[in-house]
Amino acid sequence: MEAEKSKEAVGREAAMLVQSGMRLGLGTGSTVAHFLLSLSERIENGGLTDILGVPSSIWTEKRALELGIPLTSLAENPVLDLTIDGADEVDPNMNLVKGLGGALLREKIIAQASRRLAIMVDESKLVENLGTKSPVPVEVVPFEWGIHLGFIDSMQADAKLRVTSEGNTLVTDNGNFILDCFFEDGLQYPEEFEQRLASRAGIVESGLFIQMATEVLVGKVNGVVSTLYPKHGDL
Ligand code: A5P
Repeated sequence: MEAEKSKEAVGREAAMLVQSGMRLGLGTGSTVAHFLLSLSERIENGGLTDILGVPSSIWTEKRALELGIPLTSLAENPVLDLTIDGADEVDPNMNLVKGLGGALLREKIIAQASRRLAIMVDESKLVENLGTKSPVPVEVVPFEWGIHLGFIDSMQADAKLRVTSEGNTLVTDNGNFILDCFFEDGLQYPEEFEQRLASRAGIVESGLFIQMATEVLVGKVNGVVSTLYPKHGDL
């Protein structure tokens, strides 16, 4: 319940970052749900005009349409002013783990097309090392997906195929699978891990977002939201 309160507060604050005329990236997840609601209220009240959003998942697309948020695509608007999204972990350098909601690939495509990436989290998601509280999700093509388990294992991680609550293999919006990578003491060198994954055929993308966030809105249980910015020279 308290976590929900801080998600609501941070979602409301994030909606205040939006200005009329902006082209937006719309993230995915339970915090984004609060943001979309506040955004739609601002549009409905006439406080925001000429807003277009690019959704990062089928879920977000559906929810935005229900709330009357006008949508577009990167084909029509290849450069976005601002993307607003959640995250599963944030380290002191504002590097992120994303993808527990399974939308990491589209989220990263949209974030890379965006001038600003504002991330909304609650305090519990701030960690010293990524991979401490959350696994690092990795999206792989279904063809011979099992071959990657040993490869990831060789990097001191334990990879597990993500399954749904019904026990079926989870299939992403892109028709791929997700391997969740668990680390005993967190991920020491996220950049290196990311690069090694990228060199491997069949691995599509990881949920590591390195030096991408331009601001992190942190919600506390008392409803106060503070904003973190990268240390000078990080971006
Ligand atoms: C979706 O794939 C994820 O990247 C989410 O942005 C992330 O899991 C945060 O979700 P919550 O806001 O639901 O915690």
